[in-house]
Amino acid sequence: MTTTNTPADVEWEPHAGRLADELAAAGKLTDPRLAEAVRAVPRHAFVPSYHQQTADGSWAEQASVDDLAAVYANTALITALAPTGTGGTTVLSSSTQPGLMTRMIEALHLTDGARVLEVGTGTGYNAALLAHRLGEEQVYSIDVEAELVELARQRLAGLGYRPTLVAGDGAAGLPEHAPFDAIIATCAVPTIPWAWVEQVRPGGVILTDLKPAPGAGSLVRLTRTAADRAEGRFDATYAAFMDLRHTPGDNPAGFRVERDHGQAEHRTTSLDPNTPWTSLLVWFLASFDLGAEIAYGYTLPEGGGIPAYSDTAPTASWIATPDGSWAEITLAADNGQHEVAEGGPRRLWRLVEQAHRTWTDLGRPGWNAFGLTVTPDAHTVWFDQPDSDHAWRLARR
Ligand SMILES: C[S@@+](CC[C@H](N)C(=O)[O-])C[C@H]1O[C@@H](n2cnc3c(N)ncnc32)[C@H](O)[C@@H]1O
Repeated sequence: MTTTNTPADVEWEPHAGRLADELAAAGKLTDPRLAEAVRAVPRHAFVPSYHQQTADGSWAEQASVDDLAAVYANTALITALAPTGTGGTTVLSSSTQPGLMTRMIEALHLTDGARVLEVGTGTGYNAALLAHRLGEEQVYSIDVEAELVELARQRLAGLGYRPTLVAGDGAAGLPEHAPFDAIIATCAVPTIPWAWVEQVRPGGVILTDLKPAPGAGSLVRLTRTAADRAEGRFDATYAAFMDLRHTPGDNPAGFRVERDHGQAEHRTTSLDPNTPWTSLLVWFLASFDLGAEIAYGYTLPEGGGIPAYSDTAPTASWIATPDGSWAEITLAADNGQHEVAEGGPRRLWRLVEQAHRTWTDLGRPGWNAFGLTVTPDAHTVWFDQPDSDHAWRLARR
């Protein structure tokens, strides 16, 4: 294949071949025809440069040709940034880890002639892998960022691939091109858009990152089992994508809750204050009670910090919800006990502790012990089997 939009002197094929071998050795690439696509598609043509955060928090741009090995490594690369309303920088798009992409494409169980809709075109690399595997006429891809779609279109065309690319909100799917055999989303959704269920054929597959609340959820693979039902399990391996945005640019709403320790209740906890980051299934279960909107983070020391810590090391973790509830938990422990302060109408850390007990009582299961059933009226997360007694209704959003 000629790479008309890459410098002729760039020897990328050995790198692409090594990437395919590495993914195969790691069990992330088993389909020979997809392996052929990984060898044939130049990732650096879709990622001519990428952004890396430096130690001081600023961003530096790297040209891909300067270090091809880095571009053909099994890592995600940040490809589009945008300023936030609060003077910071946010990530608008990235090229997903290739091993995650190949694992996801394989999880669709595609056969020749299958028609696929990708939500989240980004660089177009994934669309190129799909187009190489299935044929360009079988592949549809949509991104909310029109500029990214245009760039992807040019890069794909430069390599001879012309899948159908659309700029728009992928939550609505592409009704004019439905039905699809599979819809694969490379962004995270709080609930499964019903349009996706309607636009996969009966027996078709929806694969997406379901995150009902920030950081809470993972990849789920649903089959349309009836006209009004899609059902399936979470993937065994945790994955996280950037959130779907209904409009271009940076648009998270955000909220702030003051943590007034004078008005708080104080107690201790044995639960690890890092739980929202380190015990992701507990965080997922907790989110059903905490609600869809959760802010959480680490507290940095004030005025030079606590002697035991460096000036920038955090001293506590915190969570908050828009009803004004908050909890702050010290990272330091005394005899395994961390101090907890909780304020506002709800005791949020108790909800996390309760979720931890639930998870422990269930035998500390992994992600694929849980599943999801979607109907027009409800999203139900279940443990073990769809008719399980252990089931949770998600609020529709
Ligand atoms: C991780 S990137 C996708 C990576 C891409 N598949 C690739 O191969 O480069 C996620 C993408 O989802 C897009 N996105 C976010 N909200 C969207 C929406 N409502 N509809 C379609 N795409 C959306 C972002 O603009 C971003 O490009």
